[in-house]
Amino acid sequence: MDKSTPTIQRRTYHIVTYGCQMNDNDSEIMSGILDARGLTRVATEQEADLVLVNTCVVREGAEERAVGRLAGMSTDRKTRPGKLIGVTGCLAQRDGDTVLKAVPHADLVVGTRDLFRLGELLDQAITTGERVIAIGDVDKPVFLRDETVHRKHDIKALVTAMYGCNNFCTFCIVPKTRGREVSRPLPEIVDEVRRLVRMGYVEVQLLGQNVNSYRWNGADFSDLLEAVNAVDGLRRIRFITSHPKDCPDKLLDAVAQLDKVCDSFHLPVQAGSNRVLRRMKRFYTKDDYLDLLARVRSRIPGAAITTDLILGFPDETEEDFEATYDLLNQARWDSAFAFMYSPREGTKAATWRDSIPDEQKKHRLQRCLGRQEVISAEINQALIGSSVEVLVEGVSKRSELEMVGRTTGDKSVVFAGIPEMIGQLVQVRVTDAHAHTLFGAAG
Ligand code: SAM
Ligand code: SF4
Ligand code: F3S
Repeated sequence: MDKSTPTIQRRTYHIVTYGCQMNDNDSEIMSGILDARGLTRVATEQEADLVLVNTCVVREGAEERAVGRLAGMSTDRKTRPGKLIGVTGCLAQRDGDTVLKAVPHADLVVGTRDLFRLGELLDQAITTGERVIAIGDVDKPVFLRDETVHRKHDIKALVTAMYGCNNFCTFCIVPKTRGREVSRPLPEIVDEVRRLVRMGYVEVQLLGQNVNSYRWNGADFSDLLEAVNAVDGLRRIRFITSHPKDCPDKLLDAVAQLDKVCDSFHLPVQAGSNRVLRRMKRFYTKDDYLDLLARVRSRIPGAAITTDLILGFPDETEEDFEATYDLLNQARWDSAFAFMYSPREGTKAATWRDSIPDEQKKHRLQRCLGRQEVISAEINQALIGSSVEVLVEGVSKRSELEMVGRTTGDKSVVFAGIPEMIGQLVQVRVTDAHAHTLFGAAG
């Protein structure tokens, strides 16, 4: 680190974010902490005196992207002396050693537990000129205050409902990077939502790796939804991610009955073979999952349901794969995120042979994605001629004369409109539909 650089030069920052909504929310929190210290956010890493890379390690590709980006930053100091580079998030939390080997020029290494100390850690790095490493015990609960959050959107806000995960699916590293489940106190969440509404937000998305296993003082997730639904001025509530094993009828009834809770569920199934599901430690069978979809659809007709799939899990046979492909056809998800299995050191599955060659994983992935594209388009095309309620989020990238918004099922809708519509709920008649976007006309 360049000790001669005066503090005054550290005045702009840029945060690069990889990974899930938890990381998005953490980056917003870090941004708020830096704003409060008088730093200014800039649009590119080249203009920044401090660059933070908020990392993800859920798959090897995500880890490589973050490390590659960090490695490419090493020369930046020639053009911007005194520049500081920080590594935050799940890679930092999982193991600081890998970070330091891969990114020897890192000035700050901050794990998921120590995010809220970013301000003091930055001061320490500046005043001592030494590298600062803060990687706390992953099981230490962390409660972040939200007063200073610098949010990415003006209309919709991410709100953490619970931290961590207790499930230890055999493929997944998240419990090692985010620790055990801890639910935030219900009144604190409701207070945060009230503050957001006062600031003009109309939609909140409640976050947790298994948000539906929320528990606080006898309250469960449906009680939380009910309390948030009662906040005056709020228009929409979303939540992510729901584990299929924790979806009692009480929760489905709450979603059906509470007017602000959107009619959409992200229910990651991962696989359709019972043998694979058992080895993944998911605690449900293909039939349990199909039964859950039927329970959702009977209570909430038209509910949008999405999923995650992993292809090429260790020892996944052709028959196992066909069970997943068959489930895809039976489930008829609105959309699916599908991934090739990626062994993650420290997980149970990584102790088994990664037996499916990449070519085969890719073939299975592409078969699923190709078929899902057709199903998604069919489901969306069935909406042509109907009217959907859209929360208008902004101007479309395609044209200034077009607005873009989302349905209650989280489908993107493009239609002719004016910027005054932003933040409003408008009725849009669907005139055309692709697999990922609806097109329509307001009114
Ligand atoms: N908590 C959620 C759940 O239980 O389904 C998902 C969390 S994870 C951040 C998001 C998705 O990444 C998972 O649903 C899974 O499909 C995928 N994933 C996790 N570990 C993976 C691995 N080792 N290889 C490939 N995909 C993985
Ligand atoms: Fe990972 Fe499973 Fe926890 Fe989801 S439920 S975060 S997939 S361990
Ligand atoms: Fe990635 Fe961490 Fe989220 S590993 S998916 S950023 S919890």
